[in-house]
Amino acid sequence: MPRSAILGVGHHVPDKVVTNDDLARLMPTSDAWIQQRTGIRERRFIAESGTGASDLAVPAARMAVERAGRKVEDVDMIIFATLSPDVNFPGSGCFLGHKLGLPGVPALDIRNQCSGFLYGLSIADAWVRAGAYRNILVVGAEVHSTGLDFSERGRDVAVLFGDGAGAALIGQSPGDERGLLSIALHADGAGAQDLWLQAPASSHIPRLTPEMMERGDHFPRMNGKQVFRWATEKMPEVSLEVLEKAGLGVSAVDLFVPHQANMRINQLVASKLGLPEDKVVHNIERYGNTTAATIPIGLSEAWAEGRLHEGATTLLAAFGSGYTWGAAVVRF
Ligand code: ACO
Repeated sequence: MPRSAILGVGHHVPDKVVTNDDLARLMPTSDAWIQQRTGIRERRFIAESGTGASDLAVPAARMAVERAGRKVEDVDMIIFATLSPDVNFPGSGCFLGHKLGLPGVPALDIRNQCSGFLYGLSIADAWVRAGAYRNILVVGAEVHSTGLDFSERGRDVAVLFGDGAGAALIGQSPGDERGLLSIALHADGAGAQDLWLQAPASSHIPRLTPEMMERGDHFPRMNGKQVFRWATEKMPEVSLEVLEKAGLGVSAVDLFVPHQANMRINQLVASKLGLPEDKVVHNIERYGNTTAATIPIGLSEAWAEGRLHEGATTLLAAFGSGYTWGAAVVRF
């Protein structure tokens, strides 16, 4: 059965740059605290109300399709990974399909947080290999800035996140040696409450009460130390799992594109794997954590820099809320 491959990648971030000093004007924090703990210097936020995840995804999708040498009309399936959809329902994939002018093309939203792009890649891979679809757009896009708690109560989370979108076009591999060599996905709901957004909650009547708002249940909450511990354990573990599945050692990796949660997490993961700094893609310092978008944005920037040359063996790995995590080995 022919493999699937990433045929093209694209990204888009809003123009508005928000520095750590800008955040320090909103709440008690500092550039030094943020940089030291996370490596983040700045992030992008949407400039005005009315821009949703699907709006950021449009230029990212167009770039991915163009780099793949295809036309937007060739897209026959959309998988949209986001934890910050345009509205609660319908899914952002429906909005994206409409904005791209693709009536009738199926669209699937998935809610797998920081691992969303890898979950989407795995679904696309299965569909391409089964012959169900030929050109699948896998998108990761987030607008976080409108849902963060910019007060002392929420500062641990608010400093981490940024807005942005990345996209990949998945189709049949152009050659035997190229394409998705292996992929693995995992989840463990035991850690669900370590990083979550509780409200509105369908289990509550009504779904959102003044008391819930007073407590800030409608903002994301995080147990940062637990997330750090799990991420630095599971990302190396699943990376070794996919390398073994692909029959490769760590030395075969030309490029490592980890989810961008925190510079310290990525440095620790790379060092546990024995991967040198020059093989690791970082953009957290410029964009913060864009959740489902971090990996396709990283791939898209690496593509622009010529780092995804033919034959480049690329390791992708993510960990996030759920908990969900995964990794993949892709040869370009
Ligand atoms: N600015 C200044 N001080 C802050 C801030 C802030 N933004 N946030 C928290 N603090 C304070 C705390 O209140 C605390 O003060 P105290 O000692 O007086 O009580 C102090 O800083 C230390 O807080 P800790 O939570 O212990 O800080 P820690 O060293 O654990 O760093 C951090 C926090 C950066 C969140 C860290 O736990 C981490 O990196 N965790 C990983 C979480 C992550 O990356 N999440 C991303 C989403 S999940 C994902 O994508 C994988």
